[in-house]
Amino acid sequence: MKIGVIMGGISSEREISLQTGQEMINHLDRSRYEVVPMVIEQRVDLIMQVQQAGIDIALLALHGQYGEDGTVQGALETLGIPYTGSGILASSLCMNKQLSKTLLKAGGVNTPEGLCWQGMNDYDPQVVERLGYPVIVKPNTGGSSIGIQLVQNEKELLSAVQGACSLDQAILIESYYEGTEITCSIVDGEVLPIISISSARSKWFDYKAKYEVGGAEEKVVELPTVIEQRVREAALASYRLLQCKVYARVDMILCQDRPYVLEVNTLPGMTANSLLPKSAAAAGITFTQLLDHIIASSLHERKQEWRMA
Ligand SMILES: Nc1ncnc2c1ncn2[C@@H]1O[C@H](COP(=O)(O)OP(=O)(O)O)[C@@H](O)[C@H]1O
Ligand SMILES: [Mg+2]
Repeated sequence: MKIGVIMGGISSEREISLQTGQEMINHLDRSRYEVVPMVIEQRVDLIMQVQQAGIDIALLALHGQYGEDGTVQGALETLGIPYTGSGILASSLCMNKQLSKTLLKAGGVNTPEGLCWQGMNDYDPQVVERLGYPVIVKPNTGGSSIGIQLVQNEKELLSAVQGACSLDQAILIESYYEGTEITCSIVDGEVLPIISISSARSKWFDYKAKYEVGGAEEKVVELPTVIEQRVREAALASYRLLQCKVYARVDMILCQDRPYVLEVNTLPGMTANSLLPKSAAAAGITFTQLLDHIIASSLHERKQEWRMA
């Protein structure tokens, strides 16, 4: 089977995507697959490269815009080339934190209180005052914590909002939920061991904590049965409500024993330090087996979807 590993891309998460792609290339079973690395520099590269190579499936190592947001999935659907992970709708929904939160709330899943502004014209410190400090300001469609800031008071608000607005058309302002940060990896509707994250130097999981060596301690966490059950239910409900397929990772804060979902990642990081492979390893699944599974399950999923079309 000929596998195109699609990586790089044009989003702010390009560097992480290159690492994800490299890690996938290192672990793909060469006795089963012919591996074609495909580094995307500009949008048009995808179509030219996949057509030239004549691949059987696109293994998506992209993150963020034009990769995780349904656009690449749409292009591949149009070309009739199967790809890994969630389909177009789930990909674009999960990229939009505000829309995801609206659907999660409607489906009974807890998510932090907050508001959404469509740019600087909506700037109104009084509304934030009512929400109460501290707040977290984030670009609505960002990733890898880029452009996110913890804001302690009104003095810090303007520059944080300006920063997030420079990266996105819409921004989210959420109450800061103090608690234990956890993440739930789901593969084919199964929740893998839950991982807790404690950032070494920060009150939240910022870019440095995510990607610098020693930036955060991430370990499988044993929760009391009742709480573990709540966490698993929230993760699975989020996965289903947002129509995710094959695999995803649900980020949450456990606050006063209740999980609050921050977001669902449809193409979570798969670098050497990433959380989903770590969680899989704790369940006895090697990186190579994880890739086998993602590929087989994605082929099955696309076949089902395309049969109905
Ligand atoms: N409402 C919140 N309360 C506390 N911490 C938050 C909140 N929202 C985000 N964070 C922190 O910011 C990090 C990144 O936020 P997240 O919404 O997952 O965006 P990204 O797509 O950049 O990962 C989280 O992992 C968490 O540490
Ligand atoms: Mg996150």
